[in-house]
Amino acid sequence: MENAKLIFQGKEYEFPTFMGTENEMAIDVKKLRDLTGAITYDPGYGNTGACKSSITYIDGEEGILRYRGYPIEELAGELRFSAAAYLMLFGKIPTEKEFTDWSKALTQNSFIHSSQVSFLDHYPATAHPMNILGSMVSSMSSFYLHDSEDEAHVSLNIQRLVGQVKTIAAFSYRKSVGLPYIYPRADHSYSANFLRMMFASPAEEYVVPKVMEDALDTLLILHMDHEQNCSTSTVRMVCSSMANIYASVSAGINALWGKLHGGANEAVLNMLTMIHQDNDDYMKYVNLAKDKNSNFRLMGFGHRVYKNFDPRAKLLKEMVDRVLEEMGIHDPLLDIAKNLEEVALKDEFFIQRKLYPNIDFYSGILYRALGIPTEMFTVLFAIGRMPGWIAHWLEMRQDPDLRIQRPRQIYMGPPLRHYEPDGTLM
Ligand code: SDX
Repeated sequence: MENAKLIFQGKEYEFPTFMGTENEMAIDVKKLRDLTGAITYDPGYGNTGACKSSITYIDGEEGILRYRGYPIEELAGELRFSAAAYLMLFGKIPTEKEFTDWSKALTQNSFIHSSQVSFLDHYPATAHPMNILGSMVSSMSSFYLHDSEDEAHVSLNIQRLVGQVKTIAAFSYRKSVGLPYIYPRADHSYSANFLRMMFASPAEEYVVPKVMEDALDTLLILHMDHEQNCSTSTVRMVCSSMANIYASVSAGINALWGKLHGGANEAVLNMLTMIHQDNDDYMKYVNLAKDKNSNFRLMGFGHRVYKNFDPRAKLLKEMVDRVLEEMGIHDPLLDIAKNLEEVALKDEFFIQRKLYPNIDFYSGILYRALGIPTEMFTVLFAIGRMPGWIAHWLEMRQDPDLRIQRPRQIYMGPPLRHYEPDGTLM
């Protein structure tokens, strides 16, 4: 590709360009400030590439999402989540033996350190499970060796993070409802173990319904990674200072919690419930979302990258009917969601702003069908995203361009001024 030319303050400058695997184009502005004295200004980084990455590819216009080159449509429903996590982390579909060994390692490392369980016990029953998850993952660096240069430490810590994130989640739920903890079993898949740890009664054998195990596998796979989203960029930001894997991932968990990001699935369910309690008057809320003074947004709608449709939302919408029917569930909130989508897709306000349902719009209905409490929806998002966060942490460590991330700014505050001490503040 030819260089990009910039004319600035009467002078012409040239900047190198390059193209990625899928012909995405970039202008390399690493030398911009040295050459021109100016910086770029791009709040929210909507036009700024922070890195080159080989993990995930999104085409927002075409509604394409691929993990390590594989379209999500070919993975969701065809692999157990732990097999897809192997692909995400190590870049290849595991052989049967690799899958067996990986599954065993995950189960063996999915037990929370016994001293750390008491850490969990001291949270109030009302603690939000995302708060518990972020703190517990951060504190794992107090219980496990984590030399980022020691491959044995890194390998074990990957297994602990992927394995224990579901255990911490299930334990935080059991604690919130005053039930004893259930521990994972080697003869259960990742998703079956999670569901059993959530819902099994100590008094009797609990058989995880296959429809629930398969639905959870698909949900977790669809949440596994999404390029440089807010939480993944946060993991990379913290990793760039050479912080350990637990510190980096717990920062990502906390970034995900926000309702504009991973917290949106919980916000969608709360919105649908509010509409249901308001006589299912969804048109009232569509009109509220269009009123700039209302500060109300249709949660689960819109996306920084997808401008036609979110392929994950499309898959979840196809799946939700089948799973609820198979489970014999009629959820009035699903009817409201479908009505909202139908109206919004025909309304100029949403069309003009390219606002379509995103992954969070239907995922909550499915989590609810699986019996997951609303407060745990974002925790489920974190369980799915864990392999993606770790894959980016691993990739960043091997990046020859690795530098501590430190954006610039333009100062808009008071000009130079001086303080004349009057002795009153000492
Ligand atoms: C996720 O980045 C990722 O990849 C994230 C994610 C992943 O997998 O990691 O895909 C997961 O976070 C999905 C998004 C979940 N969040 C929500 O559903 C919350 C509701 N949606 C938004 O608030 C918003 O759409 C964002 C945050 C998703 C995107 O924000 P942008 O790109 O900064 O867009 P914007 O806020 O500048 O909005 C552009 C216009 C504005 O109107 P105008 O000022 O141009 O008149 O669209 C309007 C906004 O007011 N708008 C909405 C809206 N979302 C944007 N209006 C009503 N309802 C909405 N949901």
